[in-house]
Amino acid sequence: MKPKKLYVRNFLGLKEIDLEFVDGITVIEGPNGAGKSSIFEAIMFALFGVGIRYGGRNPYDYVNASSTDKEARIEFLFERGGKEYKLVRVLDARRKSHLAVLKDEEAKITLASKVDQVNCEIRRILGFSDDIFRRTVYLPQGEIDRFLKATKGEISETVLQVLYGDVIERISEKIKERLESVSKDFAILQERYNLFIRELSGVDIENKKEELRKLEEHGKELESRLNDLREKEKILLSALQGVREYLLKKRELEELRSLKAVLERKAEAEEKIKKARELLPIYQRILDLKGRVSQLERRISEFATRKMNLEGSLKQLEERISETRVKLMALLEELHTFEKTIEEKKKIVEMSRPLLGEVNVLTDRMSGIKLQMRKIEEEIRRREEDLRGKMEEMRSIEERLERVREILEKNEEDFLKYLARQVAMRLKEGDTCPVCGGTFKGKFDEFFKIEVEFYENLMREERELEKRREVLEKTLKDREEELKRHEKELEERGQELEGILDRLEGLQKELKELGYSSTLEDELKDLEDRRRKKQEEYQRLQSEVTQLEKEITYLSAEMGEMERNFSETLAEREEILRKLFEEEKSFSRALMNWGFSLEDFLKFVEMKIDEDTNLKLAEVTARIEHIKDDLSRLESQVQGLDPDTLQRRHEEIKREIEWLEEERKKVMQEVGKMKQLIENFEAKRKEVPTMEKQLEQLGKQRKLLELAKNSFKKDEFLSFCTAKILKKILSRTNQYLAVMMDGRFCLEFTEEKGFVVLDNGIQRRAEGLSGGERALISIALAISFAEAIAGRLEAFFIDEGFSSLDSENKRKIAAILKELEKLNKVIIFVTHDREFSEEFERRVRIVGGRKV
Ligand SMILES: Nc1ncnc2c1ncn2[C@@H]1O[C@H](COP(=O)(O)OP(=O)(O)OP(=O)(O)O)[C@@H](O)[C@H]1O
Ligand SMILES: [Mg+2]
Repeated sequence: MKPKKLYVRNFLGLKEIDLEFVDGITVIEGPNGAGKSSIFEAIMFALFGVGIRYGGRNPYDYVNASSTDKEARIEFLFERGGKEYKLVRVLDARRKSHLAVLKDEEAKITLASKVDQVNCEIRRILGFSDDIFRRTVYLPQGEIDRFLKATKGEISETVLQVLYGDVIERISEKIKERLESVSKDFAILQERYNLFIRELSGVDIENKKEELRKLEEHGKELESRLNDLREKEKILLSALQGVREYLLKKRELEELRSLKAVLERKAEAEEKIKKARELLPIYQRILDLKGRVSQLERRISEFATRKMNLEGSLKQLEERISETRVKLMALLEELHTFEKTIEEKKKIVEMSRPLLGEVNVLTDRMSGIKLQMRKIEEEIRRREEDLRGKMEEMRSIEERLERVREILEKNEEDFLKYLARQVAMRLKEGDTCPVCGGTFKGKFDEFFKIEVEFYENLMREERELEKRREVLEKTLKDREEELKRHEKELEERGQELEGILDRLEGLQKELKELGYSSTLEDELKDLEDRRRKKQEEYQRLQSEVTQLEKEITYLSAEMGEMERNFSETLAEREEILRKLFEEEKSFSRALMNWGFSLEDFLKFVEMKIDEDTNLKLAEVTARIEHIKDDLSRLESQVQGLDPDTLQRRHEEIKREIEWLEEERKKVMQEVGKMKQLIENFEAKRKEVPTMEKQLEQLGKQRKLLELAKNSFKKDEFLSFCTAKILKKILSRTNQYLAVMMDGRFCLEFTEEKGFVVLDNGIQRRAEGLSGGERALISIALAISFAEAIAGRLEAFFIDEGFSSLDSENKRKIAAILKELEKLNKVIIFVTHDREFSEEFERRVRIVGGRKV
């Protein structure tokens, strides 16, 4: 197992690391707790699903506890037996899931994808267990002297697994398998040989050969009989063929004759059809004429119907005309009466017109006067209203004036003071007072202390009221005069109206005497309306009469026209009937000539003519002649031959041939079988010596294999191998020890004590060595072992183990280790010891779970 690449994430103390391995020594260095041992454990875990420090109980212990996702991942690429494999393991501590995949990296195929399968497959590929791995390839921290403590059994087990794996098992298995197979082959061959011998001795081969000869003779005899019969059959068949041909021709002749008769009948009928077709135009004409006659007859009956209809219509029209004329006479009389009445009424109206004119004038005047009177009355009413308003105003002015004066009188003293003050206001100092005559001293004393504004307002109001009363008194006088004037005017109009009314009464009386009434004109209008309507009706009836007369004239003309056509149609019908008679006469004459009834004619006319009937008839006739010739030729050949007898004879021969063929087939089968038997016998007889030789060889092989099986003992073999290897390892170890420890120590192996040390020739147990001595001897032993099994294990990992050595020994160990480089192995040492690590060129530094 040679490591190639390693990727680790969150495994033990590793955060994330990616390493590539090369042949030769690589030192992994770093401080305590950096994650160095975790790298080796990751490789071991990848391979076996188990590490060192937590064992194999709970794989999730290996997940880095401080990682956030609690998921560890290891990808390990390695080489084994010239092939590359990739292992991936993922541990999810939260979900408690452990996934493992093993791939063949070259073929890109998955070899296993379940933890158990992967473990099993790895065990198969590597050929050793995790236990052997940590004893040989990988020396874990603190286990450097593990090999030194091993017993003989442990060493044997290690040698067996590492060097031989299951080879020994496989060899003894192979011997067993091979022995079984050879024994089986021997038994089968022996049985076959015995059978052959039995078969060969039970057969009289000369007798069989004689039998074969007789059978072959019988076969030949049958063959010659068959040939004779086949010849006879040929002749018979040719005679039968002639007879059959003769009969066939004869039948064909009969058929042709009957066909000819049919064709002749058909030709005759077609002749009749042709004649009938000649008569077809005349028949067609007859049909046309008949059609024309029935057409004309239809028209004649139509004429009759129309004539009847026209006569009926004319009668109706004449009746309606005479009725309308009676109505017209009555209307004329009514119109005369209307004229007379209207004339009389109009005369009265004429005479009443001057009187009515005056009535109208007077009525107009009267309504004018009435209007004037209404206006005057309205004016009077308005003025009275105004007058009442003014009088009201006057009364309120007087009342206010009275109250103002009352107030002034009531406060007469103050009023006087006020007046005195007014006087004093006009005086200057030293002026003489016009009221009291004293000298005005130029200032107002207590006497004048009154409500000046109050008295001034009252005085102003009194003056204004006085003025307004004066104006109002004058207006009142004017209004009263105007009112009187209007009343007088109203009276005058009233008198005028009375005069008009008297005159109107007189005029009404006169009109009544003349026969006038107020409805007269309406009556006249009504009469004129009615007269107009009657006149309109009269005119309408008159035009109706004219229309009816026109219709009568039109219908009479139509009647005349139709009667003309009618007689023309009758004449035409006569003419066509005459022609029809002629045509029918000549048609029946022609029918008689051909001997046709009308039904025959109609039937023939409908029938079709086959254009090549005559041609066919000629062909058939020619064929008949030809066949007649053939028949006369064949007749001489088949005379006296009966087809039935010939047929019967042929069938007999056929049956005989079939029987002979069957017989010959059986004989040939017998011959075949006999030949086969003789051939087999000869072949077996030839095979016997070869079989005897094979049996002898297989017997020898079996004996040899039995010998091998009995003599191959696993333990003895293993013990022999172990002793040989141990000898080699010890010799190499002692070479190293001689260099490293100046020949003081020498290592030996005893069955009872395991490894023992000879200290200057005196035997001591290894446990008694000092830490450094033990480390040196253990490393020398491990290196020697590694060298001894170099062809099998391509890697070598040592975790620490050098720390207990002094500087000089470290240098010595380093020198020996460097020699291992030539072994083409991947060698990795882990150390936290800088002094030691600096001895080597290729170094990987790990700090805090990462490569730096
Ligand atoms: N499951 C775990 N989760 C987290 N850390 C762990 C876990 N198991 C071990 N460790 C820690 O990982 C760190 C690295 O351990 P490792 O044995 O790889 O160190 P080292 O480099 O070999 O140190 P030393 O030189 O002391 O042997 C240590 O601090 C250890 O306590
Ligand atoms: Mg460590």
